[in-house]
Order: sequence, then C-alpha cells, then structure tokens
Amino acid sequence: MRSLVIAVWGKNGSGRSTIASNLAVCLAGKGYLVALVGASKAYGSVQHYLGMEVPEEKSIKKALEAINEDDMVKSFVQHKRLKDLFVMSLSNTENCLRLKTVKEEEGKSLLINTKDKFNYYIIDCTESFGDTLTTLGCRYADRVVEVIRPSIQAAAFRAAHRELIDGLKLASKLIPVANNNKNLIDINELEQKLKLKFTGILPYSRSVERSEGTGEPVCLSGAVTRADREYIKEIRKIVVLLEAK
Ligand SMILES: Nc1ncnc2c1ncn2[C@@H]1O[C@H](COP(=O)(O)OP(=O)(O)OP(=O)(O)O)[C@@H](O)[C@H]1O
Ligand SMILES: [Mg+2]
Repeated sequence: MRSLVIAVWGKNGSGRSTIASNLAVCLAGKGYLVALVGASKAYGSVQHYLGMEVPEEKSIKKALEAINEDDMVKSFVQHKRLKDLFVMSLSNTENCLRLKTVKEEEGKSLLINTKDKFNYYIIDCTESFGDTLTTLGCRYADRVVEVIRPSIQAAAFRAAHRELIDGLKLASKLIPVANNNKNLIDINELEQKLKLKFTGILPYSRSVERSEGTGEPVCLSGAVTRADREYIKEIRKIVVLLEAK
C-alpha cells in the first residue's frame, strides 16, 4: 500500500491544524485512508477542527505506552461521516499535569508501527522541534507543509529556524504555503527575504476562521464566499502535489 507521511509545521497560530484537517478531509474524500495525528503534548487539539472527541481510553498517551501494534491502532478514532478518516490525539479531557515528555523510542515505535496502515499519515506538528513527535514527524515525513502567516513575526520565526531546517534536511521536502493572508505585507518581498517560493497563498476567510468552532472544515462544508473558494482551491493544489509524490 502506498503510504506517505505528511508533517504540517509552522509557527504557533499560523493555521497548521486548520490546514492539516482540510488536507485530511480532502484526501479522505478522494478515497484514501487517512490518519491525522496531533503532536501536541499539552492538550487534545486537532479533533476539534473535525467536530470529534477523543476519549481518555483512546488518547495518544495510551498509544505511546502500548507495546504491541494492535493496541496502538486501537487509539485511532474514526470520523463519523468520512469513514476513511481517523484521528489520533491527546483526549479532550487531558490534564496537562499528568502528561510527561514523549520519549524518542515511544514516538518512533508509534510512528513506525502505525504509519503504513494509511495512505496518508498527516502529523499536525507544534512549532517546537523540542517536541519529540514534531521532530520525529518532520524527520520521517515525505513532505513537510510549512505554514507561514505573512507577518513580521513569521519572518523572524522562519529566519531563526533556517539552520535547523537545513540540519534536519527538510529543504527538499518543503511545501511552503502562506496562510491567512490579509495583504498586510508584500508577499513577493517576504519570499525574497525568506529565500523561498510559496506553493500556495491561502486567503483570510471568515468561514475558515469559524470552522475551528464548528468542527466543519471548509473543504467538507463547502464554499460560501469567494475567499472560501480560493482557500479550497489552494488546499486542492497542495493535495495534487501530495498525490504526485
Ligand atoms: N485562512 C484562514 N482564514 C481565517 N482564519 C484562519 C485561517 N487559517 C487559520 N485561521 C484561524 O487562525 C487561528 C489559528 O489557526 P490554527 O488553530 O489552525 O493554527 P495552529 O497553527 O494550529 O495554532 P496552534 O498554535 O494553536 O496549534 C484559528 O482561530 C483559525 O480558525
Ligand atoms: Mg494547532
């Protein structure tokens, strides 16, 4: 079975989880078996973008502690409508005081034992390479969708990570996208400054913003405004690139 690991990485608040969930529903809608894994070690987050709940008995915490493959796979929660879409994350009711740092061996074992069960294994990373699942996800990834919200802060964040990106050999795998573009800064100038070319420029869209609360990614609920249509078009462009790999 063709199996690709996709890491969605970028600065906090750049729009990673929104993009990861839209990519996931788009790919699952095309008949691929898709996993969406939340790398947050602080709280269960990514399931909310899909209107889902992860109970404590299915928390990624359990999967990380599991010894055998079957127990790891059991922690994936199936989406109610899209039967080919599965989420793994910390549970909705996690207590951060009970959480410990993910050990490298645990993370590796989880990734290696579960990634090949899916056509697309999307990891919703955190911004920090200090987080085990984020670093492992980017290292194992076939493609890294890098989300950049066009801003001065984003440029500083990117510049600060240049050496690390090179060190992890991510350059050849990167799909850089500008997200939540409000035309506050010049995109061409930003590209020149960061020495990269955006594969897609996703606009600000109110429906996209609201989807975090409704649990209905716009690629599932459909477009209402021109900005929504543009956002969906750009997501589909990324999907085509992922399919071409
Ligand atoms: N294209 C967009 N248009 C409008 N709002 C957006 C867009 N992309 C993301 N948002 C909103 O921006 C906020 C941050 O997005 P999201 O949660 O996806 O980012 P993140 O990088 O996963 O953040 P976190 O650091 O909290 O994990 C959310 O409220 C989301 O609804
Ligand atoms: Mg997020």
